[in-house]
Amino acid sequence: MNKKYIIFNWKMNFTVSESIEFSNNIIKSLANLKNKNIEIIVCPTFMSLPYCYQILSSIVKLGAQNISHTDHEYGSYTGEISAKMISDYAEYVILGHSERRIFLNEGNSIINTKRLFSIKNNIKPIVCIGESIDIRNSGKHIHFLENQIKECIDSDYEDKIVAYEPVWAIGSGENCDLGKVEEISKLTKSILGNDTLFIYGGSVNKDNIHSYLSSSSIDGVLIGSASLDKNSIEEMLNIIDANS
Ligand code: 13P
Repeated sequence: MNKKYIIFNWKMNFTVSESIEFSNNIIKSLANLKNKNIEIIVCPTFMSLPYCYQILSSIVKLGAQNISHTDHEYGSYTGEISAKMISDYAEYVILGHSERRIFLNEGNSIINTKRLFSIKNNIKPIVCIGESIDIRNSGKHIHFLENQIKECIDSDYEDKIVAYEPVWAIGSGENCDLGKVEEISKLTKSILGNDTLFIYGGSVNKDNIHSYLSSSSIDGVLIGSASLDKNSIEEMLNIIDANS
């Protein structure tokens, strides 16, 4: 079986001291994972990133949840954090998450710009795509997703990673059927090539993680809520080991 990726997106959760405590609490479960064909990527807030790096970087990779869209390492961009600034800690960055698209009006073009800056700073972009429930119900989701993929990733590069996160599946408990996810994997790889890593996210938990990871067309999972709980992390890792 190909290497599988498990990405924890902690979103806007945990203060710095809570992140330190939580990282110390999960380190044993992470270190005990026997399946060495799994790469775990933990994505805390910017503030917690250096602290989590100190605690976890010998066992897992670290990622950020965003970077600035300005192509500068430093400069007069109040409140922004450049790709260069996270590059000491983060090997990955999540870009274009639907929460940023919805709450901050981020569009495909800005996501593509951030993608280019992350590559320039040796950070691998995890580009998120996903349709709303209205688009899915209208039957136009394939066209919509095709457009997101082409506009967010308008050039070829190494280490392409696309995370399909249907908006309606995020935090709803309504994970997307395996067959529907596989259909989008096929679409993504037909546009970007078979070397693209295809990740699924949306209500992934201990009850469904195995089915996604056992599909040959899904390279990993992106997990929100279930990555904020020590027991749920332990259960998911146990399930992976029991089935490997
Ligand atoms: P949940 O796992 O809470 O549905 O969140 C998914 C997500 O948005 C990960 O980026």
